[in-house]
Amino acid sequence: MTDPRKLRSTSWFNDLGDPEMTALYLERYLNYGLTLQELRSGKPIIGIAQTGSDLSPCNRHHIELARRTRDGIIASGGIPLEIPVHPIQETGKRPTAMLDRNLAYLGLVESLYGYPIDGVVLTIGCDKTTPALLMAAATVNIPAIAFSVGPMLNGWHKGERAGSGAVIWKAREKYAAGEIDGAGFLEMAAASAPSVGYCNTMGTASTMNSLAEVLGMQLPGSASIPAPYRERGQMAYYTGCRIVDMVREDLRPSQIMTRAAFENAIVVNSAIGGSTNAPIHLVAIARHLGIKLTNQDWEYLGYDVPLLANVQPAGAYLSEDFHLAGGLPAVVAELLRGGLIPHPGALTVTGETFGGLYAGAPCENADVIRSLDKALTPHAGFLNMTGNLFDTAIMKTSVITPDFRARYLSNDTDPMAFEGPVFVFDGPEDFHRRIDDPSLGITADSILVMRGAGPRGYPGGAEVVNMRPPSYLIKQGIRGLPCIGDGRQSGTSGSASILNASPEAAAGGNLAILRDGDRLRVDLNTRKVRLLVPEAEIADRRATLEAEGGYRVPESQSPWQAIFRDRVRQFSDGMVLDGADKFRDIGNKALPR
Ligand code: FES
Ligand code: MG
Repeated sequence: MTDPRKLRSTSWFNDLGDPEMTALYLERYLNYGLTLQELRSGKPIIGIAQTGSDLSPCNRHHIELARRTRDGIIASGGIPLEIPVHPIQETGKRPTAMLDRNLAYLGLVESLYGYPIDGVVLTIGCDKTTPALLMAAATVNIPAIAFSVGPMLNGWHKGERAGSGAVIWKAREKYAAGEIDGAGFLEMAAASAPSVGYCNTMGTASTMNSLAEVLGMQLPGSASIPAPYRERGQMAYYTGCRIVDMVREDLRPSQIMTRAAFENAIVVNSAIGGSTNAPIHLVAIARHLGIKLTNQDWEYLGYDVPLLANVQPAGAYLSEDFHLAGGLPAVVAELLRGGLIPHPGALTVTGETFGGLYAGAPCENADVIRSLDKALTPHAGFLNMTGNLFDTAIMKTSVITPDFRARYLSNDTDPMAFEGPVFVFDGPEDFHRRIDDPSLGITADSILVMRGAGPRGYPGGAEVVNMRPPSYLIKQGIRGLPCIGDGRQSGTSGSASILNASPEAAAGGNLAILRDGDRLRVDLNTRKVRLLVPEAEIADRRATLEAEGGYRVPESQSPWQAIFRDRVRQFSDGMVLDGADKFRDIGNKALPR
């Protein structure tokens, strides 16, 4: 069948009018068995952006699943080519996987732009793989469809659910309190990882895979299917089938990931209790499409949305329970029923509207996926905090525990504000070295501050703002202290920290001038965090610090760390590389030379 639209790949393989160049482009693709007839057939060439590898165990199952994706591509009349993506593994990559999000993005942009690719399947999963691939699809803007590897099965430990990450925070407290030893710690951690797939809590992976579906970039129902389930392989096949038609229809990411789609995603993120990393990633994807999103948009659109998914860390269950209860479609259907989805008419990869696809999706377990009148909390979104220490930072209030609320937020005079002295740590090494030192004098009234943990300072931004109290306080039953910082926290953390502060200490932010014992006032009513020292003293401290050469951070340890630090923007700008977001729609403009 002849294709009415001229494909990018024809400019490599078919119509150069120059036998020498055509031969050069063609010959090496023949050497493993592709035939001349296939390559010159005018069939769409579909990339499978492969994020699975032995270095990336969360996404490794994509290596198997890609076989079914290939089957789907061939069945629909396309030709599959698998494209390796720079590995990103959340828990294994040092100093942080976040450093590599932009590196994988850059690599995939070059692969999609510089080779004969007409459309692409984005194999997503582990935290940063999802935004990296969606960012690349946004920049190149050739037809693209995301395909999730799926979460692990439920983990179990001594008859209780053991969730990724969440079990670590639990074990960390037990260990500090002397209730378990090192072997017991490892046993709890391993129990949370019973199968292939990504984290089985609503951490950054489940969040971003869910939001990729809400953005319209995945087939409906795809995000929440556990990795080992048969439906996962079937979804791989359908995804392969669909991308070929998307190329024929010339349906591109910019038509799907519109501002309306991002607004839908912000609402759903609240309802699922999504990760505090989501604002950074969605802001970044939007930037590469020329759409400006801010932390204020997150509060404005998302704060008043109730929490419906009873999934750890904000709730009790895990991803497999969530899927069996109806998964993401059941959550979206309930939000649609309540009129809370702002743009039901947003387009999806299917060519159909978001609202049309999900309306009426059934809920099979009303405790795991709540109806709006039985929501777990009425305000599940993020607050946008400002003040004299930073321009913007976010706080996830859905994870505030009753204990935290009782201690900090329920005195009669000022129900949503508290004050206290700060203890300041310069990066995670400093925290680990000093936190248990009783001479610091940290008490139940203290506020812990982490700085030097932002995009430039760390670099990449460390997930370390959710700091545990000193073990002597844990033994007295104090399980959490308020935490503030310019780094991030794991999406699996249930800590009500103030995070992602921008600008960070290493980029001129005032966290750099804080001193141990300074008093802070945190007011959730006005969304202000204020350092309670006179403005003149703030200016003085600032001037002294500048005269000393500014806030110091450890040296870069690799070429990419140094390049990244030179070019990176703040979390509030999505941590995108300065200048990269000027390049838009490049797959539809001039072909590469
Ligand atoms: Fe990879 Fe959580 S560590 S998904
Ligand atoms: Mg993480």
